[in-house]
Amino acid sequence: MSIIEVKNLTKTYLIQKRKPGVIGALKGLFSKEYTKINAVNQVSFQVEEGELVGFLGPNGAGKTTTLKMLSGILYPTLGTARVLGFLPWERKNEFRKQFALVMGQKNQLWWDLPAQESLFLNKEIYGIPSSAYYRILDEMVELLNVKQLLSVMVRELSLGERMKMELIACLLHSPRVLFMDEPTIGLDVVAQKNIRDFVQKYNKKNKITILLTSHYMNDIQALCKRVIVINYGQKIFDGPLAEIIEKFSAHKLIKIVMNNPKFSKEQLSEFGEIVEWESNKIVLKVDRNQIASASSGLLNQFEVSDITIEEIPIEDVIGEVFSNSERHMKNMVLGEAK
Ligand SMILES: Nc1ncnc2c1ncn2[C@@H]1O[C@H](COP(=O)(O)OP(=O)(O)OP(=O)(O)O)[C@@H](O)[C@H]1O
Ligand SMILES: [Mg+2]
Repeated sequence: MSIIEVKNLTKTYLIQKRKPGVIGALKGLFSKEYTKINAVNQVSFQVEEGELVGFLGPNGAGKTTTLKMLSGILYPTLGTARVLGFLPWERKNEFRKQFALVMGQKNQLWWDLPAQESLFLNKEIYGIPSSAYYRILDEMVELLNVKQLLSVMVRELSLGERMKMELIACLLHSPRVLFMDEPTIGLDVVAQKNIRDFVQKYNKKNKITILLTSHYMNDIQALCKRVIVINYGQKIFDGPLAEIIEKFSAHKLIKIVMNNPKFSKEQLSEFGEIVEWESNKIVLKVDRNQIASASSGLLNQFEVSDITIEEIPIEDVIGEVFSNSERHMKNMVLGEAK
């Protein structure tokens, strides 16, 4: 059995219908008209022990809702999931001791306590033996370089510092499964990298299984070999990150530097779509199948001093995947319910 098994997991929210304007809002107080939204729609996947899987999707795709169900915070409407063999929403103690959920948007530490006291409370809550507690604490404090911050009130920590403490708090009980919902949101690039490096080291060393959502492709590229993409609550891709580029990106970029400034837009656009033009530097978006002929044509026809062929940046490819699936999936709103 896999460590995470998700089968046809579905969460339907009922949202009260609102008519526009003040009158509409007043009517809404009395009317009982609802719209059903499939926030998560028949999602299935499996994750094996020790995997670090990226969970991607645009805003509102259903990522947080899925992680909340897998953590037992929400009941599914349909379908099922097993994490470590448990039904998460039964919230068995044995299950709670073996998983953790970190949310970048939500603080789970006590604001008015110094970080170390907040951490100590977690020791008590999870019943972590002292020897294990101090060993793990020391190790993580060292890895995250936060020794001098332990006595600072949580409310006085910066966002990045607080995130480091949140991570320590979540990992003190050595969970086997970790759900991370945008752990680097709002952090500067250095802090993002610190968190990322920590997650990578921790995952390697402890064979912990991680499901991670992030809107930052740097996180995903650095950490996740495999990604699951959802949009409108439905799974649209599950596989190696590199495969997304092959499967969904129909183009590559040809970057050229010209020796001679004598060339026209018309001449160039025969070879592909011009996406950048800065004096003698041009970037063309070219159909994957035409790359060879376009580059030889460009070299023949112009005085080219440099030419490189690159993949479209992953952000743009993912953007393309989302907008393609948007066209195919207008069935999220199921209809009306009374
Ligand atoms: N408590 C709720 N009641 C009603 N609708 C909700 C509730 N929570 C989420 N939704 C809706 O469910 C859908 C999925 O939301 P969810 O938070 O899971 O998305 P997400 O993928 O985490 O997005 P983001 O990247 O913005 O965090 C959205 O359309 C959202 O508006
Ligand atoms: Mg979310």
